[in-house]
Amino acid sequence: MALKDVSLRVLPKQVVLVIGPSGSGKSTLLRCIDRLEFLTSGEMWIDDDRVTDRSGDIRKIREELGRRLLERVGLGDKAESYPEQLSGAQQQRVAIARAAAERVVFMDNGEIIESEPPSQVFADPQEERTKRFVEHIL
Ligand SMILES: Nc1ncnc2c1ncn2[C@@H]1O[C@H](COP(=O)(O)OP(=O)(O)OP(=O)(O)O)[C@@H](O)[C@H]1O
Ligand SMILES: [Mg+2]
Repeated sequence: MALKDVSLRVLPKQVVLVIGPSGSGKSTLLRCIDRLEFLTSGEMWIDDDRVTDRSGDIRKIREELGRRLLERVGLGDKAESYPEQLSGAQQQRVAIARAAAERVVFMDNGEIIESEPPSQVFADPQEERTKRFVEHIL
């Protein structure tokens, strides 16, 4: 089992950074959200839509996910643009949409060990495994 008892609630407009050692389950978690991987148990919801099952238009869900991200930084109309068609400032906003994080989720061994604001995780981690990772690996 790649993920164990993972429970994660991401609020509207919240940007989450997922960190953790190699093999801890980061990609698997993202692949589940993007539905490249399917859940063997549990549920997944996006807004009011239950998206746990294989049914539904996967392409449409993926398109909507990407667009919502751009809309957050006011670039929803640039979804079809290539990077060179955007101004420097617009490119930076895309980078912010991809990376500015309000919350850091630290994963290890398929589990979420700690899920807190970046200042807490990086400066004052509560769990021993997070502490070790932040001190020695990052
Ligand atoms: N479909 C799958 N079924 C079972 N195990 C899997 C599956 N996909 C990945 N794994 C295993 O689950 C664990 C988590 O892998 P994953 O690729 O999610 O880690 P990661 O945190 O993204 O690592 P990295 O930092 O190297 O990218 C690994 O032990 C991997 O071998
Ligand atoms: Mg990975």
